[in-house]
Amino acid sequence: MTIRAQVQGVGHYLPKRVVPNSEFEATIDTSDEWIRSRSGIERRHFAANDETTSDMATKAAQNALDMAGIKASDIDAIIVATSTADLTFPSAATMVQAKLGMTTGFAFDVQAVCAGFVFALATANALIVSGQVNRVIVIGAETFSRIMDWSDRTTSVLFGDGAGALILEAVEGDGTNADRGILATDLNSDGRHKDILYVDGGVSTQSTGHLKMQGKEVFRHAVEKLASTAHTALAKVNLGSDDIDWIVPHQANLRIIKSTAQKMGVGLDRVVLTVQDHGNTSAASIPLALSVGVERGQIKPGNLIVTEAIGGGLAWGAVVLRW
Ligand code: UT7
Repeated sequence: MTIRAQVQGVGHYLPKRVVPNSEFEATIDTSDEWIRSRSGIERRHFAANDETTSDMATKAAQNALDMAGIKASDIDAIIVATSTADLTFPSAATMVQAKLGMTTGFAFDVQAVCAGFVFALATANALIVSGQVNRVIVIGAETFSRIMDWSDRTTSVLFGDGAGALILEAVEGDGTNADRGILATDLNSDGRHKDILYVDGGVSTQSTGHLKMQGKEVFRHAVEKLASTAHTALAKVNLGSDDIDWIVPHQANLRIIKSTAQKMGVGLDRVVLTVQDHGNTSAASIPLALSVGVERGQIKPGNLIVTEAIGGGLAWGAVVLRW
């Protein structure tokens, strides 16, 4: 008997305010043309001043619960991947737990920046296959608009806010790669690269700080590491590029997404793309893309999905799952 962490529902939430590239032209030396051609981004959503990461996470989770047809009280654990929790503590996850009216189970945050959702999925999978829980809500939620330096044109035009959620449930499988559910994971980090993508503040340095990025360097690592982690995860279960129905990549830059797909030998017609509409929403980008991919009718039950992401740390990884 093989226990699989199977997807039962997916949902997302995007804040109301949509900001087109042209809005930045008034305040910084940039253009819609530069942003589109260098990143693929056309617009992004920004949270309202009184809207927090846990608010958005709760709405995404509720949408996923509705799709799965289950109640919050049926959930054993909540994992929120975020680098922009409402408060220093408690975790955003426990705040979501309270907002969903859940009084049992447990909840915690995972922080691996843009790779956070991949790390959270792998953690949820480990809890499920080891028999510790039956149902987990895995959420990626971010308010990166709060950590932007609005005078820095090299970063402020790239990021957005939002949340996405998956419901995973323990289901018996045959132990083959034809099973529905998470089939393989691959996680990596290398703390030597801190300086190419970080926030220059935090509790123990006594400031909130702003996101700093050496874009070209991060780009170089992304192109090199994303295809490699995806191949490693696929190889663990004897699958290859031809088996993939959809790559659902972290949505940071269309050029990174294209070159990763090319390296993997997968055409762009098998890649779910949302970067144009959401910008880079860090840990929220993959669950947002999964939810939008289902809504568009791209992702269907039985499809083989590969998710891959890289971000601050550096931290990177991939998850192979059959929807
Ligand atoms: O999610 C976490 C992972 N993050 C990523 O994956 C992001 C990875 N990096 C990237 O996506 C890209 O490197 C960027 C989109 C950030 C930048 O694209 P690039 O092709 O690497 O451009 P660049 O940084 O080399 O900049 C080219 C030029 C520079 O001018 P000079 O030095 O050639 O005169 C920049 O100053 O473009 C300039 N530039 C801009 N111009 C107009 C930088 N930002 C802007 C801007 N508008 N917003």
